[in-house]
Amino acid sequence: MEKKKRILNLIILVAVSACLIAGCVKLVDSVKNSVTGEETETTTSSTTLKSDSEKTKKSTSTSKTTTTEAKETEASKETTTEKKTTPTKKTTTTKRVTSTQVYNADREAYLNSIKGKKKLIAFTFDDGPGKSSTNKLLDSLNNYNARVTFFVMGDRVATYASTIKRAYEMGNEIGSHTYSHKNLTKISGDELRQEINKTNKAIEKVIGVHPGVTRPPYGSYNDSVKNAVGTPLILWNVDTLDWKSRNAQKVCNHIVSHAHDGAIVLMHDIYETSVDGAIMAMDILQHEGYAFVTVSEMAALKGKTLSDGTVYTSIK
Ligand code: NI
Repeated sequence: MEKKKRILNLIILVAVSACLIAGCVKLVDSVKNSVTGEETETTTSSTTLKSDSEKTKKSTSTSKTTTTEAKETEASKETTTEKKTTPTKKTTTTKRVTSTQVYNADREAYLNSIKGKKKLIAFTFDDGPGKSSTNKLLDSLNNYNARVTFFVMGDRVATYASTIKRAYEMGNEIGSHTYSHKNLTKISGDELRQEINKTNKAIEKVIGVHPGVTRPPYGSYNDSVKNAVGTPLILWNVDTLDWKSRNAQKVCNHIVSHAHDGAIVLMHDIYETSVDGAIMAMDILQHEGYAFVTVSEMAALKGKTLSDGTVYTSIK
């Protein structure tokens, strides 16, 4: 009996120590794994990449394109994540409506609320930005839920970059009035392209996009101009002659007496009298059922698509 007991004890001892050893090995393994966990992950992903590229190496030239495409996708993925993380909440709330225009959710809600209910009028301002007059106008727009279209001079963009940026970020529309106010029908093809391209570049440098609408100086155009601009050409059907009168009351009276749904009003924000007249007109017209919108907003609200190279004097 004594002997049997001893043998039994021995067996139990062997069994227990075997279990212990096995348990220790397992434990050590799992500790190892948890420590090198990150490394293992990277190795796996790089292996996948390797095996992918090995696969493509083995196959034909078409798969080479796939590899570059894949790389491009990788790169674009990177930029998208960058875009997602770096900018502020703005990216989620702002919406790009046209290449020249950004408005936020509040503006969109406002536009939806007036759709079909208000008469629309587009105030447009050429030759600017002005030194202080443009900012004076921007200061007043929120009082009337108003946004306007600026046809800026390319050669003024760098000097008044902050004004243009402010106008654009508010949701106003930035259009091109070309670089140096030449009559586009009286210059060479090369000059014409320069007038357009230099302005596009200058504007892009400030707001990140090319202008989506153009107003040719003097409202002067021909087929070459229409073909070259690459945007809709926006003229006007209400001319305040503000540059001539330089009188705020006269500017206001002209707008109020000629206002109608779909009108495009021509003014110049380099004159304080024009800005004052525009604000006075908004003060009156808001009680006559008008909403003050950009040219592109007006087109969108009226369900019209503006086409490049086409001339618009109003939007009906
Ligand atoms: Ni002009």
